[in-house]
Amino acid sequence: MRRNQHAWNLRTAAHLESDFYDVASFKAGGSSLRPLELAELGDVRGKSLLHLMCHFGMDTLSWARMGAEVTGADFSPDAIAKARELAAEVGVDATFVCANVYDLPEVLEGTYDIVVMTYGVLYWLPDLVALGRVVARFLKPGGIFSVIESHPMNGVASWVDDHLEVTGRYFREGRGEYEVTETYADSRPLPPHPESTWPFTVGELVTALATAGLRVTRVRELPVDVRQRNPELVQDQDGFWRLPGDPLPLMLTLTATIP
Ligand SMILES: C[S@@+](CC[C@H](N)C(=O)[O-])C[C@H]1O[C@@H](n2cnc3c(N)ncnc32)[C@H](O)[C@@H]1O
Repeated sequence: MRRNQHAWNLRTAAHLESDFYDVASFKAGGSSLRPLELAELGDVRGKSLLHLMCHFGMDTLSWARMGAEVTGADFSPDAIAKARELAAEVGVDATFVCANVYDLPEVLEGTYDIVVMTYGVLYWLPDLVALGRVVARFLKPGGIFSVIESHPMNGVASWVDDHLEVTGRYFREGRGEYEVTETYADSRPLPPHPESTWPFTVGELVTALATAGLRVTRVRELPVDVRQRNPELVQDQDGFWRLPGDPLPLMLTLTATIP
């Protein structure tokens, strides 16, 4: 886990400077939330919201600006320090906790109306059953767990000339170890560093959450991405990016409750 923590400290520094995160617009009063999570969570006014793996907190603080009482948690000390700094600078009330998601029950109390995690989170976690148990611990009865994530099929096939070519594997097992020098949010290189990720399938995700005692109420597989991950993606009128003909799921949303 240490290597990933170091990786996310490096990425945090780069992301704060990036056009992708556009911190200046957020500081000027804008929201970093996208239509997908706005639609999934609906009206958050007056609700307690726990944002897991919140990075440097812009989404967390955007939900606070919409009237939620927010707590953000992340294991990167640099990300959490920036999140606290940002909250103070824009004058938004929020609690930020620095912890590995698996250790959160040891350092955070209470239960929440909404537990949410979004965009690039699940494949950093080696044990989705344990994640489900953490979520179940923090959900209020009647509360909602919401995940918005890249679909694990995203990147498995690419559009080459006029046909799709399989370029990766959906069924991958075990830990992926990579030497990394880049990040999705910025074109400038990062210092070379190792990262570990854990692939999952939709079946494994749903089964893990059910095993942890959650009741999965909805899974949506969407043919759209929120960013142009590769050049063959074309932007639609709603701002989403799609492969011509919508041949593959690119994003997924999942909602669960506790029985
Ligand atoms: C891709 S970012 C999430 C993006 C976020 N939704 C946003 O909009 O900026 C993934 C985050 O997960 C955090 N993370 C990765 N593994 C973690 C773990 N085991 N426990 C807690 N946080 C973790 C990283 O520090 C990083 O901030």
